[in-house]
Amino acid sequence: MAARLEGSRLLIPLALLLAAGVLLAIATAGGYLAALPLLMSPTADVAFILFALAFAASSLARLLPNAGTRFLLRNRRYLGLGFAMVHFTHLALVLSSITLVAGQAREPATLVPGVIAYAFLALMTVTSNDASVRRLGPRRWRRLHRVGSYYIWLIFLATTLPPSAGTAWMLLACLLVLALRIGAYQRATGKKLRV
Ligand code: HEM
Repeated sequence: MAARLEGSRLLIPLALLLAAGVLLAIATAGGYLAALPLLMSPTADVAFILFALAFAASSLARLLPNAGTRFLLRNRRYLGLGFAMVHFTHLALVLSSITLVAGQAREPATLVPGVIAYAFLALMTVTSNDASVRRLGPRRWRRLHRVGSYYIWLIFLATTLPPSAGTAWMLLACLLVLALRIGAYQRATGKKLRV
């Protein structure tokens, strides 16, 4: 049964859990707007976990080859799409908060780094299929996904700074996935740095 939970089927339980979480928060808070503060950090946290698994999948498979890391590598595309699903939910909450909740409006300039992250995420999401790999060519496709994922990694890292008790785990995870990528690159090439 668990072995069948692969590929695009991974997205079904994720979508159900996400919908259940949103509905539960709305029921607990007594309305959508009241639920926004309850949902903002959890959606970002779950999105980060999926992002980190997709970002580290190939490095883990190279450094620690076993059934678990091969599963992650096989399903990296769907972990990335799951990340997109949850993180676009974060965006919907952010937009709701900015536009519908008094006092939550932001200076446009402060939104620029986040807007760029979502632009990358949108491009990576719509090109996460074999037809796009063929159309862009593997080199350009890989460049887009590499630059986009490092930029998104940077924004996650920035949200953990300055470090606090609540985000220390995310800061450590950001550094760990970067260390895994550097280690995997060095293992593959024998070269130092340049990930
Ligand atoms: C587009 C602009 C964005 C706005 C206005 C925004 C706003 C917010 C808000 C209000 C919170 C809740 C903070 C709290 O409860 O203390 C939050 C949490 C978070 N956001 Fe966003 N967000 C944006 C984009 C992004 C992007 C692009 C990323 C990552 C790539 C991101 C990652 C996070 C993380 C990691 C947290 C949770 C931190 C924690 O666990 O406390 N956000 N965001």
